[in-house]
Amino acid sequence: MQIDVAKGAGAYVSDIDLNSPGSDDIQAIREALGQHGVLFFRNQRITPEAHIAFAERFAAININRFFAALPEYPKIAQVLKEPSQKQNIGETWHTDHSYDQIPALGSILVARELPKTGGDTLFVNQFAAYDALDPALKKQLSTLTATHSSRHVFGEQAYRKNADDMTGRLGNASAATQDAVHPIIIKHPFSGRPALYVNPQFTIRINELDQQQSAELLQQLYTHSTNERFQHRFQWQPGSIAFWDNRATWHKALNDYAGYRRLMHRITIEGESLSG
Ligand code: SIN
Repeated sequence: MQIDVAKGAGAYVSDIDLNSPGSDDIQAIREALGQHGVLFFRNQRITPEAHIAFAERFAAININRFFAALPEYPKIAQVLKEPSQKQNIGETWHTDHSYDQIPALGSILVARELPKTGGDTLFVNQFAAYDALDPALKKQLSTLTATHSSRHVFGEQAYRKNADDMTGRLGNASAATQDAVHPIIIKHPFSGRPALYVNPQFTIRINELDQQQSAELLQQLYTHSTNERFQHRFQWQPGSIAFWDNRATWHKALNDYAGYRRLMHRITIEGESLSG
């Protein structure tokens, strides 16, 4: 197995067949996630069964409460946009499940049907974003916590706004009751590396500041994290897989392929509670 660091965020992993990884490969992938935050694989011919088996080598599968699953594989969520649909899933920068008390480790996304052009996914490296912060700001952030919520994204109100376009793709709005508090600087559970853990979609406030100070500081951190030097743009090809770690990255699915179908299979893996 070979690991090549990518520009901005993540690493490309080659010389491995994810249909049958050995124990050493799983350990190396775990360590690489703790160092690079997202891993990209090419030319894989993985079956849904092998996708599930690979995910279960890391932890139990988290069955998504809001995404439609594949009817024949309830452990696999569909990330789908039909040619007639306008909105895609995941266009705002985010890290999945930060609204849970125990946020998911990450997801393994497999390309199944791709548009002729477009449909790339952007990632940012929240280890590098943390490392580049001013030392005084690092010190201030180390004492702060933030609240994250699912309500405004997957709840009734949000769903009603997009109901027609999202029907059959997202649902179960009454289950969007989760709010969770996490440190703003977390230690990655695998590597102990510090990472910046707030994101534009699910973080709703910094608890120790007033509303305005909280909004200003969050905006400052978002502007910092989205600097191009922390970003990697992953271009999907048939056989591509991305495995991201939510504790070290954000992602954003570009919606620039009107009139084409894009279907991805996503499996999300359970994580652990986060500490600063
Ligand atoms: C997601 O946010 O899980 C979707 C990512 C993608 O479709 O590229």
